[in-house]
Amino acid sequence: MILVTGGAGFIGANFVLEWLAQSDETVINLDQLTYAGNRENLASLAEDSRHVFVHGDIGDSVLVARLLAQHQPRAIINFAAESHVDRSIHGPEDFIQTNIVGTFRLLEAVRAYWHNLPVEARQNFRLLHVSTDEVYGSLVKDAPAFTETHRYEPNSPYSASKAASDHLVRAYHHTYGLPVLTTNCSNNYGPYHFPEKLIPLMIVNALAGKPLPVYGDGQQIRDWLYVKDHCSAIRRVLEAGKVGEVYNVGGGNEKPNIDIVHTVCALLDELRARADGKSYREQITYVTDRPGHDRRYAIDASKIGRELGWTPAETFETGIRKTVQWYLENQDWVANVQSGAYREWVEKNYTGRAA
Ligand code: NAD
Ligand code: TYD
Repeated sequence: MILVTGGAGFIGANFVLEWLAQSDETVINLDQLTYAGNRENLASLAEDSRHVFVHGDIGDSVLVARLLAQHQPRAIINFAAESHVDRSIHGPEDFIQTNIVGTFRLLEAVRAYWHNLPVEARQNFRLLHVSTDEVYGSLVKDAPAFTETHRYEPNSPYSASKAASDHLVRAYHHTYGLPVLTTNCSNNYGPYHFPEKLIPLMIVNALAGKPLPVYGDGQQIRDWLYVKDHCSAIRRVLEAGKVGEVYNVGGGNEKPNIDIVHTVCALLDELRARADGKSYREQITYVTDRPGHDRRYAIDASKIGRELGWTPAETFETGIRKTVQWYLENQDWVANVQSGAYREWVEKNYTGRAA
């Protein structure tokens, strides 16, 4: 079996669902159920004995040691993290706690477990750490995309905490020989994406008749990948990646934010036209920029393509259409995630951001 951490969040839940759609290997899912964790994402597995959900913290060394001893996983995929840049600006503490201290404690527990495994299990064991392209910092226009050897230049508390976790993972391989793999992926989008991030926020706000808040000039560039393609890359790296190596994952879809918002509006105009016949574009509002806002990310995914034969299945056009359709078909999910805490976050992040 495998142990997944953070498997009730956006990417982790997609990963668990895809994993069990393709294999019968049991998944132990350790998740602290922060605001971003949602058991409803895994509702279709409620009666499925191949999925064992454990409510807990990756930083709880006693719990993690017990889980490892009890279930003897052959691999661990670490998704658990605080993941939102804007939240890291308002309150970095949780990012330090989970992304740095939590990853460190997880590594310590895994090291002790791995050390005592029988020889063959030791050799076959893998810890795959899921990270982000944001650790590489910001690119100027026309600079080449990030390769795995690009220097680390994180600019937000979020990316700095992920960078620290990547360094710890690297050090545990270098120093203790722990068989680790690291993936650094670009921006994901798709089903179960919490509506604090750009694409789901725009869909949800558009349908609710609310403003579509574009930070700054809207010309910041992100490189978008459909979440299921990220999941297939992780499965491939787990299966065939070389121990100690880093693999960049991306879809080759660099787009300015304003283009993303226009695309979402055009799809909604087509699939769920506004009652007044006007375009959702009317709701676009430019607001005060994010402090320290990275201008451009772009991933060079040629290594994983060349060495492991991975390529994404979706283009941006097919992936974004599926995503908008998913949100239209899952309005109950959308309503349920908009709790009081969500509304408080929206209030905190957007009030006072002058239009
Ligand atoms: P998310 O915020 O949607 O989910 C994070 C999950 O981790 C939640 O279920 C949460 O409850 C859980 N969690 C948080 N702290 C925990 C702790 N201490 N112990 C156990 N569980 C805990 O995040 P996501 O977008 O699914 O991202 C998953 C991973 O992928 C993160 O490590 C993130 O840095 C990385 N990543 C994300 C993107 C992206 O575009 N979303 C891109 C590249 C890499
Ligand atoms: P986000 O989804 O938060 O991902 P990240 O900051 O990790 O790339 O934001 C994607 C881009 O969209 C980023 O450049 C910030 C911008 N953005 C807005 O313009 N308005 C918003 O309300 C949000 C949440 C993001």
